[in-house]
Amino acid sequence: LADLANARNVDPKKYLVGLGLRQISVPGPREDSVSMAATAGRKVLQQADVSPDKVGLLIVGTETPVDKSKPVATHVHDLLGISSTCRVYDIVHACIGGTYGVTAALDWLRGNDRYALVIASDIASYEMETVAEPTQGAGAVAILLSNEPRLLQLREINAFSSHVYDFWKPLDLEYPVVDGVYSGQCYLEAVQQCFSYVKVSPNAAFAYHTPFPKLVRHAHREVVNIMGEIEDFEQHCERCLAPSLEYPSRIGNIYTASLWLALASIFGVHHKHSTGDIRDAFDCCCLFSYGSGCGAQLLEGAFTEQTSDWSRQLEMSAVLDNRRVLRVEQYEALRAGTYAQTDDVYAPGTYFLKEIKEHKRYYVCSGE
Ligand code: HMG
Repeated sequence: LADLANARNVDPKKYLVGLGLRQISVPGPREDSVSMAATAGRKVLQQADVSPDKVGLLIVGTETPVDKSKPVATHVHDLLGISSTCRVYDIVHACIGGTYGVTAALDWLRGNDRYALVIASDIASYEMETVAEPTQGAGAVAILLSNEPRLLQLREINAFSSHVYDFWKPLDLEYPVVDGVYSGQCYLEAVQQCFSYVKVSPNAAFAYHTPFPKLVRHAHREVVNIMGEIEDFEQHCERCLAPSLEYPSRIGNIYTASLWLALASIFGVHHKHSTGDIRDAFDCCCLFSYGSGCGAQLLEGAFTEQTSDWSRQLEMSAVLDNRRVLRVEQYEALRAGTYAQTDDVYAPGTYFLKEIKEHKRYYVCSGE
């Protein structure tokens, strides 16, 4: 982002300190919400050692669909070889679609003993050379849910909704319409509404929808004021909030997947710096999701006996370090659609778009 700031004649500190972002991810020319969702879904099934035919519900949360009717989830269902006796659909509600998928899956699990797979997959792309450009990002997070959770036992604590125009995507426009300052105010209002009159442990690890880390710090100040038990705000942030901001500060806003990336970051940072059990560091995880328009949810994630063992797989600093660095001219070529496809190499296990024929999209997995 320092390179982008220089190219845009902006003081790099504005992006690095003012927004709290260091790097952003952009998709390769043959990646989209389907390919990223399939890559993440395949990985979570492999890591959890769960066969695709044990999945009875597949939900994709996205606001970057590849079709106005056919769900992203139908592609993912086929690519992962999930059985046909499965409910398969997308949820669209700005950045909260993935979280609504998770809570729909929790409801579904009350009457089912199979697995639910929820994948949040998005590409945040704004008009070039606007103030929102440095907050872009691309990525997917896959979440496998069952009645016997290993990583976290999730429950909803509160929800909030309000009809606002803070960020939206009219069908005839290529880029979102954003009322940037107002969107931050709507986000903070939703934080206040969700955290007021509920009991949250001040010793939780906090994860928020993270369009950019600075906004989350502002939000957490409100939460600390509401909780009223914390004496040193900076010290509290360093211990209970900063871990969730590490991966988002290296990827940018990934809309529906943003909160869940922040959660992965809590685990990843813990295991990078400590061999101890995460239950000795925090009481639980406190998760705030926000989607423009707007909707918000507050969830609690209780640790299980197995949390520390399973969460080690979320230490992903090497994955982030190994991404290819793009020069600003390469990024601009990607955006213009002129980036050389020959440079476009994917790691084994990564899905990408092979071709579009008669308006039908075909994907393959690298290394297969
Ligand atoms: P901006 O022009 O960067 O705003 O746009 P700014 O001038 O207020 O600067 C931001 C911060 O940088 C300020 O700090 C400045 O002081 C600081 P703060 O007052 O907040 O503490 N700053 C500097 N710091 C150090 N050195 C410097 C320097 N210069 C300035 N030299 C804006 C920010 C958010 C408007 C823009 O990035 C934007 O439009 N982003 C897109 C919308 C967005 O992310 N909104 C967030 C809430 S809505 C949401 O989360 C939903 C969303 O994810 C979509 C969905 O739900 O689908 C977006």
